[in-house]
Amino acid sequence: MPQKVYIETVGCQMNVLDSELVVGALRRHGYALTDTPADADVLLFNTCSVREHAEDKTYSALGRVRHVKRRNPDAVIGVLGCMAQKDQDAVRRRAPFVDLVVGTGQLAEVPALVDKVRATREPQLAVSLGRADAGRHEVEASFVSYDPARDPSMRPTPFQAYVRIQIGCDKFCTYCVVPSTRGPEQSRPPEHIWAEVRQLVDQGCKEVTLLGQTVNSYAYQRGESRTRLSDLIAGMHDTPGLERVKFVTNYPKDMTDDLLDAVRELPKVVKYLHVPVQSGCDEVLRRMKRNYTAAYYVEMLARCRERVPGVAVTSDFIVGFCGETEESYRKTADLVRAARFKNSFIFKYSERPGTKAAGRYPDDVPDEVKKRRNNDLLAIQTENSRLDHRAQVGSTVEVLVEGPSRHGERVAGPVRQLTGRTMTDHIVVFDGSDRLIGQTVRVAVTDASPFTLYGDVEPASRERERPEDATPVAHAPGSPGRFPLPLA
Ligand code: 5AD
Ligand code: SF4
Repeated sequence: MPQKVYIETVGCQMNVLDSELVVGALRRHGYALTDTPADADVLLFNTCSVREHAEDKTYSALGRVRHVKRRNPDAVIGVLGCMAQKDQDAVRRRAPFVDLVVGTGQLAEVPALVDKVRATREPQLAVSLGRADAGRHEVEASFVSYDPARDPSMRPTPFQAYVRIQIGCDKFCTYCVVPSTRGPEQSRPPEHIWAEVRQLVDQGCKEVTLLGQTVNSYAYQRGESRTRLSDLIAGMHDTPGLERVKFVTNYPKDMTDDLLDAVRELPKVVKYLHVPVQSGCDEVLRRMKRNYTAAYYVEMLARCRERVPGVAVTSDFIVGFCGETEESYRKTADLVRAARFKNSFIFKYSERPGTKAAGRYPDDVPDEVKKRRNNDLLAIQTENSRLDHRAQVGSTVEVLVEGPSRHGERVAGPVRQLTGRTMTDHIVVFDGSDRLIGQTVRVAVTDASPFTLYGDVEPASRERERPEDATPVAHAPGSPGRFPLPLA
């Protein structure tokens, strides 16, 4: 019987990718994946520290699996990722039964560390140097980009994959833990990324999503030659078999025209930009150290729309940041109303120990006020999302079919409800046969809700449901959800 590994992932796409890579490595070590913690010999929790709520979720999950060790004393419980990097001691204090604490830069060592716990029954800790503790080069070297050969069985779907192009972040927004949990910004060499994309496409992948905390800051310098994100994308664009290229998350100040021109000109690039603004108030933006004003962002947004006609833009917001007055909140609400984002992810400010904001500014907006602003902003955005989605009714869109919708998952039959995304990242739901999964079909949009389009597959696309054109689709048990998570 092979040893079994169970993994839970919270947080952003970067974490989903890290979990895929860790499980891939363990499988090569002879492990099988299980989705039942009680059956597992190794239980891993890949964690997020961006808000306190995410950390609480991990501590409760750890509490729930503690009993596994009573029945199976050889079981290994591990905490991976951002919380491991940031709070190694706290994790061991609050959950002393944890055997393994592995930071974001040491994930390649997981199989060896599991073996070591097994051999010694001693807890194992592997984390990177803190940014305050050493020089940049030493800290950089301790955060290793972990991108081994890809294992197709752990991906959200067999035809979609995340590709890391950059690790870390150098922006140091005052509220954010990421620069300390993921270390200094480092761009991967373009040749490595192109080779990885070719390998993924050989494995049947049709869509790649390039990941970076500030993905559009990507730059790789070798001698005189500098590769920007636009060059990187152009360099992979003509890979035969590759159909779509996306990239997240963008930093407003680094949205250069060469990138927007690439998005417009290159047909495989999804016409969708996630560019978080965080607040519409200059004073709040200054305290957040975002390095731009609301007016700058609004101009950048206009430039995106002018250079890439039809582009869909989404954003993130933090409400209730330190010192956010009603007047500052009103400016954010005005920006959301006017900006017409396709969607926004809205978060209540969560003070993170160790960040500049935690040291400098009191977390002085009461939770009820944060909640009220959150709901209010959500209502404004939902109305805009409704208008954005309604505007597509009557059009025909190209959809990469991802799989059954949540409703379709509960139905077995030749035709059920499927879901996929358009070239502007709109979610579309329609009826079709499973044979369409993994294909690009044309869907006539007949109806819309604020976050979903509904429609009918065009007859020409339905032709492809014939068995001879079918691509078999396998989903690994416990593979991360098909629905991309909100960004952290
Ligand atoms: N509190 C609340 N939201 C946060 N984010 C980052 N740090 C915090 C925090 N301390 C949000 C930002 C970011 C998204 C990924 O998470 O909006 O864009
Ligand atoms: Fe955090 Fe993003 Fe700011 Fe980097 S750019 S510090 S990841 S919010």
